[in-house]
Amino acid sequence: MLSKYFKPSLLEKIAESAGTPVYVYSAAVFLKQITAYKKAFSSLGPLFCYAMKANSSAALCGLAAREGWGADVVSGGELYRALKAGFRPEKIILSGVGKTPAELEYALKAGILFINAESFEEVQEIERVAARLKVRAPLSLRINPDVDPHTHKYITTGKLGSKFGVTFEEAQKIYLYAAESECLRPVGAQFHIGSQVHSAAPYALAARRLAAFMLKLASRGINLKYADVGGGWGVKEGAEMSDPAPLARAVAGVFAGTGLKVILEPGRSVSAPAGALLTRVIYRKRGGHKNFIVVDAAMNDLIRPALYGAKHPVALVGRGRGPEKIYDIVGPVCETGDFLAEGVRLREPAAGSLLAVYSAGAYGFSMSSQYNSRPRAAEALITGASSWRLIRRRETYKDLVAAEL
Ligand code: LLP
Repeated sequence: MLSKYFKPSLLEKIAESAGTPVYVYSAAVFLKQITAYKKAFSSLGPLFCYAMKANSSAALCGLAAREGWGADVVSGGELYRALKAGFRPEKIILSGVGKTPAELEYALKAGILFINAESFEEVQEIERVAARLKVRAPLSLRINPDVDPHTHKYITTGKLGSKFGVTFEEAQKIYLYAAESECLRPVGAQFHIGSQVHSAAPYALAARRLAAFMLKLASRGINLKYADVGGGWGVKEGAEMSDPAPLARAVAGVFAGTGLKVILEPGRSVSAPAGALLTRVIYRKRGGHKNFIVVDAAMNDLIRPALYGAKHPVALVGRGRGPEKIYDIVGPVCETGDFLAEGVRLREPAAGSLLAVYSAGAYGFSMSSQYNSRPRAAEALITGASSWRLIRRRETYKDLVAAEL
């Protein structure tokens, strides 16, 4: 269980000093996931590009950068954060279905490894921007391999009919076009089949399709260097990431010995287990047949339960009273969908008790908002057995209106 990395006495100390709600990350757990990936893939020697959308905190990204990882960014803002956090430009890739000309220009000026383009129109835009800057843009295409990853429909991305990528057929036409262009340099091909994927089989299938396609391209004189298999490897709620060894075997089974440089874009599997959201009980109440615990964190802090029906384990940091009961843990936001967890078995917590919501290090803070004019939570990093530091201060009421004119 993850709770061993999040010692109750330390969590109490952090909550007292930083206030709640606060996201608490464990540097040890984050690094452990990185090490597990490196070990599982050691025979392939891939480039890992951490998917910053999962958690773009400079403190965590800095740890990944120091481990030699690159970054997968999906906006100009993420590129800005990536460079600031210390990722080397030549290890950064830019993905996303709707990059603006300004974002493309920023990426080309920064000298990133390549851009994963998702449509012919985007490729033409990249070409125009590159011509203006007098550079040759390193280009990869995101290909939709039409593989079902068996995950939540909102995070299924590699089936035909999703907005992502281009078909193999279209990709071939685009590569032939790009190879003729003085402003484009086709260097890679990518897929990303989805997120929270727990089986290696769909990766193996997509990888085989990609490899066959790349071979076909080579026969037309287009030799790509990078095979990017995306991210998406799953995390069981409340646990560390699923062992990446099966994923490594599937990818190596296809690409080992091909001379291609494999790229992976893991996000959640690295950061989810490394984070917990701490929140305090404000009130207890009954509503009909239900017991509610009203806490000071809400859907604006962690939207995953409301949006995807995600089930984050919730535990009392201290002790409760009496026998266990079934509770819904809800926030103060004015929506019925505002819950952090439903049907949780807990002993009764006193008002003011601290609760920890686990597996919250990915798509927690990064998807948080100021909805209901709630300042965003603080973030803290556990750096040793009893050491920690604040890595982002809690927002203030002034922050809520700071950008308004
Ligand atoms: N690469 C690309 C192109 C992606 O679109 C994504 C995630 C990743 C890599 C990283 O996937 P990961 O390893 O983190 O699963 N907000 C949702 C997840 C959305 C994932 C979007 N794309 C959630 O909270 O479950």
